[in-house]
Amino acid sequence: MNSNHVSPSSLQITRNELWLLSFYRESELAGALIMGRLAQQTDDDELRVRLTEHCAEEARHAWAWTETILEVGGTPLRISETYQSRYHALLGDPSSVLEVLALSQIFERRVVRHFRAHLSWPGTHPAVKRTLQQLIDDEVGHIRWVKDRLDAHAASHGESVVREMLERFQRADDKLYAELSEFRECLEKAFGTRRGEMSIESRLREIACDVLGRDGVDVAHDSSLAQLGADSLDLVSFMMAVEDAFQVEFTKQDQKTMHTLADVAARVRELRRPRQVA
Ligand SMILES: [Fe+2]
Ligand SMILES: [Fe+2]
Repeated sequence: MNSNHVSPSSLQITRNELWLLSFYRESELAGALIMGRLAQQTDDDELRVRLTEHCAEEARHAWAWTETILEVGGTPLRISETYQSRYHALLGDPSSVLEVLALSQIFERRVVRHFRAHLSWPGTHPAVKRTLQQLIDDEVGHIRWVKDRLDAHAASHGESVVREMLERFQRADDKLYAELSEFRECLEKAFGTRRGEMSIESRLREIACDVLGRDGVDVAHDSSLAQLGADSLDLVSFMMAVEDAFQVEFTKQDQKTMHTLADVAARVRELRRPRQVA
């Protein structure tokens, strides 16, 4: 394998592109882990085979990005967030295998559309183009088997169940993708990659545990502050700690409209945005 020691001068892509490829790599790894876990848990024999193959292919994609990054003179960056962790922050834990499959359907359609767009970006390195094309072909296969599975569920349980789930996930995906796209030229600044840096959601959970005296396992992204036992004094302390941690200032109106940790995370992200774009 190539050496990991690469001087910045030998990097054949921009730092922003290196971040993006590292984000792709990390999201492929996250996909492999999710599919692998489902493969371990399912009682469905056919699904077990499909999910194991899917896991193997996503792991291979993570490796393809690793090799590509090395080939263009980089080394994969440690990325604290993935596309899937963003979904998680928006939607919480999927409650069933069906939800995971529906989400992966939306995600993989997005990946294919995004990779096609990336292929057309001017100045894209030939090695990156080659990997994008290769992965598009695989993702189309993933979309197909998952769609067959969702169609079978719709046929036996009613179309509306599957359709509504897909529509809900599509809305989340549109929101998330819009956020990512907005920062296309400065992804690292917007999403943070420094070693040890935590996502907004993780940091908020930590603050909630500290200030509200709750055990981390109880604190989900969609926990309402009231559920966490926050009385008005706790709430003031919590909001102050969040403002300090993220260097933001909430208005009174903000405080009235934020009911869950996810609301707080979304507002923090909005408040930080102008500073990061400037
Ligand atoms: Fe993939
Ligand atoms: Fe995939």
